[in-house]
Amino acid sequence: MNLPDYKEARKRNKNYKRIDYNIDKNYIGKYSGKKYFLKTYGCQMNEHDSENIRAMLEQIGFEETDDYTNSDLVLLNTCSIRENAHNKAFGMLGRFKHLKEEKKDLIVGLCGCMAQEVGVVDEIMKNYKFVNFVFGTHNLYRLPDIIDKAIIKNSQEIEVYSKEGDLVEDIPVRRENNYKAYVNIIYGCDKFCTYCIVPFTRGGERSRKKEDILKEIEYLVKDGYKEVTLLGQNVNAYGKDIYENYGLGELLEDVSKTNIPRIRFTTSHPWDFSDKMIDLISKYPNIMPSIHLPLQSGSNKILKLMGRRYSKESYLELFDKMKKKIPKVAISTDIIVGFPGEDEKDFNETLDVVKHCKYDNAFTFIYSPRENTPAAKLKDNVSLKEKEERLQRLNNLVNKYFLENNKKLVGEKVEVLTEGKSAKKKDYYYGYTKTNKLVNFTANDIKEGDLVDVIITDAKTWSLDGKLFK
Ligand code: 5AD
Ligand code: SF4
Repeated sequence: MNLPDYKEARKRNKNYKRIDYNIDKNYIGKYSGKKYFLKTYGCQMNEHDSENIRAMLEQIGFEETDDYTNSDLVLLNTCSIRENAHNKAFGMLGRFKHLKEEKKDLIVGLCGCMAQEVGVVDEIMKNYKFVNFVFGTHNLYRLPDIIDKAIIKNSQEIEVYSKEGDLVEDIPVRRENNYKAYVNIIYGCDKFCTYCIVPFTRGGERSRKKEDILKEIEYLVKDGYKEVTLLGQNVNAYGKDIYENYGLGELLEDVSKTNIPRIRFTTSHPWDFSDKMIDLISKYPNIMPSIHLPLQSGSNKILKLMGRRYSKESYLELFDKMKKKIPKVAISTDIIVGFPGEDEKDFNETLDVVKHCKYDNAFTFIYSPRENTPAAKLKDNVSLKEKEERLQRLNNLVNKYFLENNKKLVGEKVEVLTEGKSAKKKDYYYGYTKTNKLVNFTANDIKEGDLVDVIITDAKTWSLDGKLFK
C-alpha cells in the first residue's frame, strides 16, 4: 500500500528517468470476455489519460461497455480542480456501491487526480471499503499489474505515489477521434498558483523529449490524422527542465514541419509566453491562430493573492500584441470569481478586462477552496450568493461577446475540419474552424476528416451555421 503525502508532493523531483512501457506477457488477454465501464472527469489531460487506460484494459482482455450495470469492472478517472468534480465522483461511487450489493464480483476502481488527495484516500479507506483499487496520476502505466492484484487479492489495493516517478514512453493508446489527437508534451506544473491543486496532483514539470513527441506526431500523420493538440498544464514551460535552448517555440517549428494540417496547444500561462511564440504562430499556416490565455482575474490585488506572476497591465500588453501580430487570432480564457478578498471593485476590474478583450470563448468558475492549497487558508469573505451573482453577470458579458464575434463571421469563408454528421440537426455536418468554433453546415459528398471551406450563413452564441463552399 502506498498513500499520498502532501509534503512529498510539494517537492520537485528532477532525477527521473525516461523509460519504456513494458507489460508482463502473462497479462495479455488474461481477462478476455470481461467488460469495463470507464468514466472520465475533468480536463483534456484526463481525457488523454483515459485513452491510455482504455488501451491498457483492452490489452489485458477487457472490452468497453457504456452500461455500468452490465460491466465486470468500473473505473472512475477523476478530477480535483473544483468541489463539484469531487461530488460527482463520490455520487457515482454511491451508485457502484448499490450495484456491488447485487453483483458481488464487481471490481470498483478510482484513479486520476482525486487519488492524489490525502483527504480522498482517507475517506475511501474509511467509508468506501467496497472500492477495490486506487491508483494515482504518477503510475498510470502500472494499471495491468494493479488491476490483476486487485482481482486476485481480496483487499483494498491503494497505490498512490506522491512524487512523480519516471517518465514512461510508449504507453498504448486507443484514441477517441480518428482525425484529432492529443499529444502530451509536458507533465505537471511548478507555478503553484495559490488556489490550484494541480501542482500537487500532477507533480513537477517534466518535458517529454522532442524526439519522442515528433515520432508520435509523424505516426499520427501517417495514420491520416489532421490535427494535434499539444498538451500540458503549462505548455509554455516546455523544454526548460531538459534543454538549454529548446522550448515550445522550437518544438512548434519542428511539429509544423511534419506537415500535420492543424496544430493547437493548451494551456498557456501568460507569464512565459514569448514574443518568439507570437511570431511563429503568425508565420506557420498550420499553427492555429487560437490561443487559450487564462486571465483568472482582472484585479492586480487578486492576481497577487493568486500568485499569478503578472499584472492586469502586462496581461493586456501581451493580449494586444497577439491581436495585432496574429491575423484573425481567437483568444479564449479562464476566469475565477469570488476569490477570497475579491470585492465589487476587483470584480468590476475583471469585467473591464473582459470588455477590452472581448474573448472568443471563456470558461468561468466560482472559486472553490482546495485541500492543502495556500488560498484555502485565506478568509473567504465573499458569500455564495454574491459569488453566484458575479458569475451570472460575468457570463452575461462573455456571452454577449461570443455572439458579437460570431456575427462578424457571417458571409465569410472559413476552413472546417469535418467531424461527422450532426446528431441534433438532420442533414447537417459539423466541425471546427481554425479558431476552434463549432460550425453546423450543409454539404454533399463529404466525409469525416475532410478539411472543407464553408460559407457562414448564421451566428449563434456557441456555434455557427453554414453551407459548403463550392
Ligand atoms: N477554484 C475555481 N476554479 C479553479 N481553477 C483552478 N483551480 C480552481 C479553484 N480552486 C480554474 C482556473 C484554471 C482552470 C483549469 O480551472 O481558472 O485555469
Ligand atoms: Fe494550476 Fe496555475 Fe499550474 Fe495552471 S499554472 S495548473 S492554474 S498552478
